[in-house]
Amino acid sequence: FTDLVIQHVKLWRHDNQKLHQTEGFVGVKALVVRRGKPFRISLKLKERPFNPKTDALVFKFSIGRNSSLRHLFVKRSVTFSKVSPCSRWGACMDPEGPDLQCPSILISTPATAPVGTYSIQMFVFTPSSRKTYRLGNFTLLCNPWCSKDAVFLSFEDQREEYIQNDSGLLYMGTPLSVAARPWSFDQFEPDILEACLSLLQVSPQHLTNPVKDYKSRADPIYISRVVSAMINSEDDRGVLKGKWSGDFTQGVDPSTWTGSGDILTQWAESGFSPVMYGQCWVFAAVMCTVMRVLGIPCRVVTNYNSAHDTNGNLVIEEFYNELGKKLPHSKDSIWNFHVWVECWMTRKDLGSDLNGWQVLDPTPQERSAGVFCCGPAPVRALRDRRIELPYDIPFVYAEVKASVHTVVLREGQVVCSSRDTKRVGSLICTKAIGHPRPENITGDYKHVKSTHGALYTTSQGVSVTLTLEKAPVAGVPITFRVTITNKETVAKEIIEHLNAQAKQYNHSPSDTFWEAESVVKLAPLEVRVVRHQISPVHYEDVVGDDLINLAVVLEDPSNQQRVLACEEFNIESPQLDEGAVNRGTQQTAVVSFTNPFSVPVSGVLTIRAAGLKLGEREILNLPPGGRVQQPLSFVPEKAGTRMIQARLDLTNRAVVRGYQMVTVNRN
Ligand SMILES: *[C@@H]1O[C@H](CO)[C@@H](O)[C@H](O)[C@H]1NC(C)=O
Ligand SMILES: *[C@@H]1O[C@H](CO)[C@@H](O)[C@H](O)[C@H]1NC(C)=O
Ligand SMILES: *[C@@H]1O[C@H](CO)[C@@H](O)[C@H](O)[C@H]1NC(C)=O
Ligand SMILES: *[C@@H]1O[C@H](CO)[C@@H](O)[C@H](O)[C@H]1NC(C)=O
Repeated sequence: FTDLVIQHVKLWRHDNQKLHQTEGFVGVKALVVRRGKPFRISLKLKERPFNPKTDALVFKFSIGRNSSLRHLFVKRSVTFSKVSPCSRWGACMDPEGPDLQCPSILISTPATAPVGTYSIQMFVFTPSSRKTYRLGNFTLLCNPWCSKDAVFLSFEDQREEYIQNDSGLLYMGTPLSVAARPWSFDQFEPDILEACLSLLQVSPQHLTNPVKDYKSRADPIYISRVVSAMINSEDDRGVLKGKWSGDFTQGVDPSTWTGSGDILTQWAESGFSPVMYGQCWVFAAVMCTVMRVLGIPCRVVTNYNSAHDTNGNLVIEEFYNELGKKLPHSKDSIWNFHVWVECWMTRKDLGSDLNGWQVLDPTPQERSAGVFCCGPAPVRALRDRRIELPYDIPFVYAEVKASVHTVVLREGQVVCSSRDTKRVGSLICTKAIGHPRPENITGDYKHVKSTHGALYTTSQGVSVTLTLEKAPVAGVPITFRVTITNKETVAKEIIEHLNAQAKQYNHSPSDTFWEAESVVKLAPLEVRVVRHQISPVHYEDVVGDDLINLAVVLEDPSNQQRVLACEEFNIESPQLDEGAVNRGTQQTAVVSFTNPFSVPVSGVLTIRAAGLKLGEREILNLPPGGRVQQPLSFVPEKAGTRMIQARLDLTNRAVVRGYQMVTVNRN
């Protein structure tokens, strides 16, 4: 009478991961599958085949390494009838004709199972024995391909972009000159999945009550709120420490990161001490990586002219002097841009009309229920001003909808003021699906009225608008128009004061670097367009990611009335040009740069792909108009579309960026 002996267990990693859209996770120790969809394992038996009449197999799936946590496992006997997938845990013999010598078993997980790493134990009962086997582990992720999952997305192109795309573009600059920065999300790079799972394991929620935390991980609302708090290092052992000014020499200048992989790896390798430093786009991009890894659809969103209303009155105040210089008087602030993420999920807690994209903001700005985290706030609730709903809607609402009160002061007295309800949140965008261009999603956040209108008109004698003729590019004069309208039937002599200041996206402007003054004579009811330009020698010190605040104040000396118009914009970096990429195993690319500045430049050119440095070159004293070319050879290891990034750090602090998508074919 021979007993049943298990010789070998096969987890069918490659086949299961292909069916579960997790084949990108290659270096991972455990099998990676998505909930709500069965996966297959098979046994190879020795001595005798399985006898359904006398033998029984029971599986135990447990999450967490602490076996005494009794709530966190399920046991299922293997059945011969097909179990209904996606509603409950189950195990059944492969209905495609059971092979009793090498039984193949389908394991089903519910679409509401907690996310995390499970271990599988198998108990084999025969008439003569009872044996226990440890079969290994599997990591269970959310499943946007499964209609029962709270993160279900209907279309494959959406899932390709918001779950699978491991590179993308982050938008910065201003609404006038939207600047795209390439970013490598790196979710499939070695050790990134493990780092993202560790982030859940070291969260305060897990450390204080692991059982409750594991159970709650079924819910993407809960997961996203935990992750939003864990991306910043306030209150917990989170990933990134923020720093918005001063000296970055203790860590890395936020603007030099090119992807999430380096940050998450450094955090995990240091035993979870915060990586220095992050700013809003870094926090958001790292959160996007973690959410895509966990299987929750996520995209990075930029809100232009994002208000930070410190006193909750939904009004931001700005002050100028009578010559058009912006003054650092207000505690409220408008960042030229702010970056957060949106995650896609249902809101069973609120009702199906609020399903869909939810704002989550990992940048530490304000505490929510005592912790620096923000969201999920349904985008739909922001649009419909349903301020009372969870989570953090009033704060996000002010970021996109506050009005701006602009005041011109002269010797402490208000000489002119105006209110602008259109500037804040004037453009909200994210990278389009499948294409390297911005998608305008402003209409999702607000009911946009199509009325145009000059923002700084008054009923007084003259009005003024300021318009850039084209998006400013380094090395080329900035040209702009001031349009002055005399609304009265008398001739006027007006003094025009112009002022340009450099500023960082989240700061008050610094000193004036250019100013001009002239007298303009206007006939009755005349509309006069005055063109101006600022030549590159004047703004050459405004480099790196700095912006320019340009303002005009018109002064009517006859009655001391003043009107103001202003605009903020950035200077587009010169481009790096990438040459053609040849397909094949050995790829070559050429990166070239032409100096647009009027002075020689020096710097370091680095080329990277998915966190790996592919090449580096020092450039010394490249003359104005001079060109350098850097050829590059590399052997891509993964098939698919890959992003290659090049950046040139000039010694004058300017940073020049470029990228190229490369399609690597399967051999
Ligand atoms: C498992 O959890 C229990 C209850 O939280 C705790 O008392 C025990 O020390 C833990 N055991 C291990 C090995 O972590
Ligand atoms: C499964 O994971 C546990 C920790 O959760 C680990 O101790 C064990 O070694 C893993 N087993 C395998 C086969 O990888
Ligand atoms: C990711 O986005 C880029 C840029 O839009 C695109 O070229 C690439 O095909 C996308 N990759 C995937 C896997 O969708
Ligand atoms: C963005 O969309 C809004 C609303 O649809 C529209 O009013 C606005 O003009 C658009 N902006 C740009 C820059 O396309």
